[in-house]
Amino acid sequence: MRRLPFFSIFVLLVGLISVPSYLRAAEEEAESEHYSFKEEHNRYGIGKFYQGREIARVMSWHGIDWLERDEREEEEKLSLLIEALQFKPGMMVADIGAGSGVITRKVAPLVKPEGKVFAVDIQEQMLEALEKSMKKESIDNVVTVLGEEDSPKLKPGSIDIAFMVDVYHEFSYPYEMTLELANSLKPGGRLVFVEYRKEDPKVPILEVHKMSVMQVKKEMAQPEFKLKWKETIDVLPRQHIIVFERVK
Ligand SMILES: C[S@@+](CC[C@H](N)C(=O)[O-])C[C@H]1O[C@@H](n2cnc3c(N)ncnc32)[C@H](O)[C@@H]1O
Repeated sequence: MRRLPFFSIFVLLVGLISVPSYLRAAEEEAESEHYSFKEEHNRYGIGKFYQGREIARVMSWHGIDWLERDEREEEEKLSLLIEALQFKPGMMVADIGAGSGVITRKVAPLVKPEGKVFAVDIQEQMLEALEKSMKKESIDNVVTVLGEEDSPKLKPGSIDIAFMVDVYHEFSYPYEMTLELANSLKPGGRLVFVEYRKEDPKVPILEVHKMSVMQVKKEMAQPEFKLKWKETIDVLPRQHIIVFERVK
């Protein structure tokens, strides 16, 4: 067998090494179209900025006990949130960033018998806890979906209402997530943000975990999302409920 000259091997190796770095450069360029990065930033943020807002760190599954705490109803009035969103039997619902399933558990019985809740999260441990609690409560109309940082992995045009309770501010790819979430909605479907009020300094939560109505509206205004602000429902003690509709 003829041996490859040393120069050819060198060129081959450089090629192998440099192809991934070209790809990385293209990826970085695509990212910088929507995002900027700062070395100095809030210690609870990731140093990545979208439309002037620093993205928060993702809450780890180690915090499940905090999500499941008994005082939550008193502090957040989740029952009022559920009432405000007017779930109906037969609806296809997506709980994005469902965590251990606190809200999924309340919504699933309301959309039975034909309706389903797609519980999406990027942490397998959250989905495992969620599946366990669904089994314990004999809830059988929940589909767990392991999403990706930039994709909720939902079928286009399939969802009546997608909601995010205390989640959107931690998306590391808010542009890509919103584009796919908006596409997953049926015409007239709703995309709902439940976010701690940034406008109120008395709300006891870290700054990077709060969002103002103005900021959410600004981030939803890209024409390719085809989203229209519908209403802001301020019935909760600490959070806004901000509702957008997919235009028909
Ligand atoms: C603060 S917890 C809220 C959980 C739940 N919504 C609740 O209120 O009990 C935020 C959740 O969002 C999830 N999350 C963060 N980024 C996500 C993404 N890109 N897609 C889906 N889930 C995401 C996290 O893994 C975490 O479970």
